[in-house]
Amino acid sequence: MATLSLQNVQKSYGGLQVLHGIDVELEDGGFLVLLGPSGCGKSTLLNLIAGLDDISAGDIRIDGRSVIELAPKDRNIAMVFQSYALYPTMTVERNIGFGLEMRGVNGNERSAAVKQAADLLQISHLLDRRPANLSGGQRQRVAMGRAIVRNPDLFLFDEPLSNLDAKLRAEMRTEIKRLHGRLGTSVVYVTHDQIEAMTLGTKVAVMKGGYIQQFADPQTIYEKPANIFVAGFIGSPSMNFVTGTLTSDGRIARFEASGVRVEIPSNSDEMFDARPAVLGIRPEELKVDDGESAMLTGTIDVVEPTGPDTMVTVRIGEQPIVARLPSRFSGKAGETVGLIAHVNSMSLFDYQTELRVPL
Ligand SMILES: Nc1ncnc2c1ncn2[C@@H]1O[C@H](COP(=O)(O)OP(=O)(O)OP(=O)(O)O)[C@@H](O)[C@H]1O
Ligand SMILES: [Mg+2]
Repeated sequence: MATLSLQNVQKSYGGLQVLHGIDVELEDGGFLVLLGPSGCGKSTLLNLIAGLDDISAGDIRIDGRSVIELAPKDRNIAMVFQSYALYPTMTVERNIGFGLEMRGVNGNERSAAVKQAADLLQISHLLDRRPANLSGGQRQRVAMGRAIVRNPDLFLFDEPLSNLDAKLRAEMRTEIKRLHGRLGTSVVYVTHDQIEAMTLGTKVAVMKGGYIQQFADPQTIYEKPANIFVAGFIGSPSMNFVTGTLTSDGRIARFEASGVRVEIPSNSDEMFDARPAVLGIRPEELKVDDGESAMLTGTIDVVEPTGPDTMVTVRIGEQPIVARLPSRFSGKAGETVGLIAHVNSMSLFDYQTELRVPL
């Protein structure tokens, strides 16, 4: 187990800077998820931690010790790649034990370590097979087994589930969580899947364009997104955004747009008068209320039952929003509907900067 500290980590390729000063701390035994869209620099950051690429500026510390001068093999890190990178001609047993074999660990000790990892991953019955004769999920387990036997201070995972179908992904996600619970080893895990980030991470760093957009625990990222990008990236269906104006006297912040009127208690000293702003409301927080207290009023556009819930698209003025309502919802397209949500679940963002407005 180990702590990890990334301090102003920068990376440039020639004149192109792809990481702009990344600061992240991971506690001992923690699970850090690097989350962001394709090309945001997740793999680059992971490769720097592993030592597969050189850092341009800043520092990487494991257990308080700078590792940037250390070769990958001296960092006591094990990495699981998206492609698994198994040796096709070797059996599962030899694939898992190969790193130990290279380090000169003797046969008995190696077999014991491989057996233990295989038991943990429930692939003991597959030890004599070759990778070509395994399913995607089984290959994934072999790749994890190879990382586990090295007993590292830190696991690095680069999109380990992206080659699997949806059902298997969900199963392996649970498996990784269970494994982390049992081994307690610190993990850095790269994904662009927000569900993986939310379910696995003790800390999530949301990245875009080589910058950290927000670094916090998953609940904070979900409830108090730092900006519109983070708000839209986390949650499915995505958070609704409504453009309007925000007026605050320091005690009550009032958001208004066509068909929308929301009053949120505020403790901020900042006062504004009709400042352009964006209101963010999660689809799952909306409820029907056709009475006086309705905050949003609009026309039902589309009703889509999914089984457990019904997704309802409502036009508020010109702006469409989605509400995830109970399956018993009986409204029809063309009807008028009123909606409410708890004010604590809403977010407000500055229209210009797209940053969260603290209230
Ligand atoms: N060796 C390289 N030389 C030049 N540019 C590179 C190099 N490696 C990566 N990049 C660039 O750095 C940026 C970040 O790449 P990176 O692979 O870290 O993204 P990522 O977040 O892992 O994306 P994905 O989700 O697609 O794997 C990209 O714009 C990429 O083109
Ligand atoms: Mg990548």
